[in-house]
Amino acid sequence: MLEVKNLSIEFHHKNITKKAVSNVNFTVKGNEILGIVGESGSGKSTIAHAILRILNESAKISGEIIFDNSILTDKNIDSYRGKSISYVSQNFFESLSQYFTIGTQLHLLLKSKSTYRNRKERAEIISAILFSLDFKDPKKILGKYPFELSGGMLQRVIIAFALLNEPSLLIADEPTSAVDTIIKQKLLNILYKQKKIRNLGIILISHDLPLVSRFVDKILVLFAGQIVEYGNLKDIIWNPRHPYTKLLINSKPDFSKTELRQKRIYRTPSEQCIYRQYCDEYTEECQKVEFRNENSHFWRCGKKE
Ligand SMILES: Nc1ncnc2c1ncn2[C@@H]1O[C@H](COP(=O)(O)OP(=O)(O)OP(=O)(O)O)[C@@H](O)[C@H]1O
Ligand code: SF4
Ligand SMILES: [Mg+2]
Repeated sequence: MLEVKNLSIEFHHKNITKKAVSNVNFTVKGNEILGIVGESGSGKSTIAHAILRILNESAKISGEIIFDNSILTDKNIDSYRGKSISYVSQNFFESLSQYFTIGTQLHLLLKSKSTYRNRKERAEIISAILFSLDFKDPKKILGKYPFELSGGMLQRVIIAFALLNEPSLLIADEPTSAVDTIIKQKLLNILYKQKKIRNLGIILISHDLPLVSRFVDKILVLFAGQIVEYGNLKDIIWNPRHPYTKLLINSKPDFSKTELRQKRIYRTPSEQCIYRQYCDEYTEECQKVEFRNENSHFWRCGKKE
């Protein structure tokens, strides 16, 4: 369904060029969740925005993004965005109007789709989606304004908006960022169920590898815009090859103030292995970084095994 080939993204501001994403490759098919994980600034949202072609003019995209056998371009993206490709934004709260009830906003969205003109028909579709997202009494939610809902409820409402598009691919950018651990698991469980019911392909973006690993089929680990490891859930969790993946699995670092950030100050940056200045497994053999693989398990590391 989705194939991303050699995706690179640079931002150009006056004379400064910032490389945000380098040579990223991955696929997502129906009934599959790909988790994209990495620290803040690693390029997760930039990849999502490139797929949806909502990056601003300073961005230069190279590579190919193929969806249902068509290369996505600025010209054809309107036929897919908000239709077969739906997006739950990291700043989801901003995508709702505070002046209209949830019901009015859901009806307006559905009304804009020419196939659903009848109010009763729309109400049935909306109730069914809300019910499938664990709202036991959908009518109660429909009369509320966004500011009257808890973070977890709002997230589910946003997922309802995304599902109304009847997408085959859903991109969920940090869908659990604003809620506590129990609600996080509940939300991810809901997405997992939707994947099965709707044969949905999902890209689930997160900082939290241990959390998402309970729900995903594949994992892509990003570091500074590069894939450092990519493969099936089992390969990544039971046999992680890259030191950064091991760190994410074992210690769940708080990237705002970790050791990892402090280490950056003390080691010299290198052109070769992007992780070299932070790596606990660095040896003299690490001069040449390689992208290695064992079947569909890929990792970027130059260390001899
Ligand atoms: N419009 C832009 N102009 C310049 N640089 C940008 C722009 N948008 C993003 N970037 C840079 O691209 C890099 C990747 O940003 P991105 O938002 O994709 O990270 P992220 O992994 O989603 O982080 P977070 O977990 O905090 O959401 C960052 O260094 C960011 O500063
Ligand atoms: S190449 Fe060396 S420095 Fe880089 S990740 Fe592998 S072990 Fe660490
Ligand atoms: Mg982001």
